[in-house]
Amino acid sequence: MGEIRKPIVVVGSISMDLVTRTPQIPGAGQTLIGTGFETTPGGKGANQAVAAARLGYPVAMVGKVGTDAYGPMLVDNLARAAVNTVAMEPAGGSSGLASIFLAESGENSIVIVPGANARMDRETIDRHAGLIRSAGMVLCQLEIPIDTLSYTLALCAEVGVPAMLDPAPAAALPEAAFRQIAWFTPNESETAFYARNAASAEESAQLLLAKGLRCVALKRGAEGVFIATQEGIGAWAPAFSVPALDTVAAGDCWNAAFAVALLEGNGPLEAARFAAAAAAISVTRRGAQNAMPTRAEVDAFLAAGR
Ligand code: RIB
Repeated sequence: MGEIRKPIVVVGSISMDLVTRTPQIPGAGQTLIGTGFETTPGGKGANQAVAAARLGYPVAMVGKVGTDAYGPMLVDNLARAAVNTVAMEPAGGSSGLASIFLAESGENSIVIVPGANARMDRETIDRHAGLIRSAGMVLCQLEIPIDTLSYTLALCAEVGVPAMLDPAPAAALPEAAFRQIAWFTPNESETAFYARNAASAEESAQLLLAKGLRCVALKRGAEGVFIATQEGIGAWAPAFSVPALDTVAAGDCWNAAFAVALLEGNGPLEAARFAAAAAAISVTRRGAQNAMPTRAEVDAFLAAGR
């Protein structure tokens, strides 16, 4: 009989991404002629759920969509990726929306309108507490209300389920949250927000661990990821060098793949190598959820010794 794997449960956002391709990110007061427009499923939570599912891991998502036309499309997209949608709920009004400018360089800028994601509340978490308790790991981000996130982290801590927080977009967190998080995974600008005045990734990691965090993974794009833990790990996991076409959701891909690899019993540095490979593949493709690689693709990438 096969081993029963506890699912990854994502408690987070789901949005429709309205992506405008443009020569460069427009400055204030500037009008540019765009080169394309696409509507693609996104939202940091849903992106992470789809990425983990594509890697063959059981995943469920707790989230809310609007009663607009996008709501059913977003849930269908999760289901088609084999994400368990039993805890996806409709909320009145619009779905989450993300207005994205994607420059030819691969850089992006994003404005989020939370819509239904703002309706994630403590009662939503209570209704799905059984699912959360059953998780091998819970993945969270900061596109739902901070109160709901704090409540979720407290539940995870109480029942002993590790929680990984991708603190994006950066926002102030209650002090208790830092002690309830198993993995904290900020990118460079988010790290600057939480570890003010730190000069280097190494110094930032020390400041963050001093807040009570157990493990941090500081994502630095092409530089790689600096991993540091209370147990004394402090090392870089390098990124793979690939031509970047679209970096939207590369961080989400990294988080999901890192969680999958940790749950499969890998140490943090080996898990970060797997995640770096998954994220490298994702930036060579357009879209958020659409760019997430399968397990076979990541295995082939690593086998090719990239
Ligand atoms: O992390 C990328 C995501 O951020 C996009 O899919 C967009 O929805 C925003 O939430």
